[in-house]
Amino acid sequence: MVSARQLRKGLPPQRGKDGALRKALLKWFAEARRPLPWRERYDPYQVWISEIMLQQTQVETVLPYFARWMAAFPDVAAVAGAPQEELLKAWEGLGYYSRARNLGRAARRIVTDHGGVLPASPEVLRSLPGIGPYTAGAIASIGFNISTPAVDGNVSRVLGRLFALPDPVNTPRGQARVWEIAARLVPVRNARAFNEGLMELGALVCRARAPACNACPLANHCAAYARGTPEAFPRKQPRARRRGLRGVLLLLGRGKRVLLRKRPGEGLWGGLWEIPWLERRRGEGCAAALARLLDGLELPLCAPPRKLGVVDHGLTHIQMHLDCYRAEIKEEHSSARASTPSGQPLRWAAPGTLRKLPLARLSHKAIALGWEPAHQRTDPGGGAPRRTDPGGGPAPRPVGKRGKMV
Ligand code: ADE
Repeated sequence: MVSARQLRKGLPPQRGKDGALRKALLKWFAEARRPLPWRERYDPYQVWISEIMLQQTQVETVLPYFARWMAAFPDVAAVAGAPQEELLKAWEGLGYYSRARNLGRAARRIVTDHGGVLPASPEVLRSLPGIGPYTAGAIASIGFNISTPAVDGNVSRVLGRLFALPDPVNTPRGQARVWEIAARLVPVRNARAFNEGLMELGALVCRARAPACNACPLANHCAAYARGTPEAFPRKQPRARRRGLRGVLLLLGRGKRVLLRKRPGEGLWGGLWEIPWLERRRGEGCAAALARLLDGLELPLCAPPRKLGVVDHGLTHIQMHLDCYRAEIKEEHSSARASTPSGQPLRWAAPGTLRKLPLARLSHKAIALGWEPAHQRTDPGGGAPRRTDPGGGPAPRPVGKRGKMV
């Protein structure tokens, strides 16, 4: 990684202007900073966990996760010693599960290679799994008060506006420019408060939409404000549209249990359990897709699957639309396979087990459409979607039930 000093080299000194901007930001942050739990002691371990959780996730969402995580895993050694399923369970609902898997990997590396102590150097931090340039800069500056830049989405927006940067900030050129400016601005002694101040300003004042310029401590330093078009910055290159995915999902019951499939270790929802589903092929109807899903499981259904409804689920690059079905196999049926034909582990989970296993949010949404053990059902296959929230984990977001019964 390029160091702050290297990045600063060759840049015109702007001491007067930059100094006034720094001072205004630091003054504002001292008054406006939110009392967040990882700001109580600035313990580097806590800063690390908070930074990983805050990637792609709002502070309010992170707070309960952070509290539960610290109760379960109070230090690096606790993370290093935890089975991956426990880490994933604690992460359930936050999404981007590679973050939790990488926390486990990085914690084990910190124990084996760094005596169990989180390194302070951004370059060394950067060599750990799941720690990129932003997170390395954030841990080093916020956790250790080392003078190094940390540029995330909020900081890119703030600097893109302050300097009315012509290059889109979500391009390599735009990012390089933003990092250069951040490196030039970060003070030698007060890096923690300065970097956090930029992040806080982006979260509270210099928001993506409707920035509160009249309440901004940097308004008279801001080139976008001076032009009268703050929302025209930062410049951004439009993102590719999300790919649509249509598929079928099957809640397969056996007495009180429901069939779960384990995701492969890497990639989307890696290591989590899920209700089996698959993407429909071009021109393939739901019935054919269901038959393909069941193919090879060798499970005799009591009756054809019934439609429960539809789950829509948005991911960064994919918009999923799944028709959800429910079917039963006989409780006494004993030939339950341990894995799919392609080798993914399967298990029949009773409600208690369901609460303990890390489960993809998509599966929580499908369960909320109406799965409960067959013998408890009062309204076979119909009625309003019931919440059978397995507790423990996050409440699935409400879903509309749009499908017709078949
Ligand atoms: N976003 C990421 N890290 C943050 C922090 N330390 N404070 C506020 N927002 C953040």
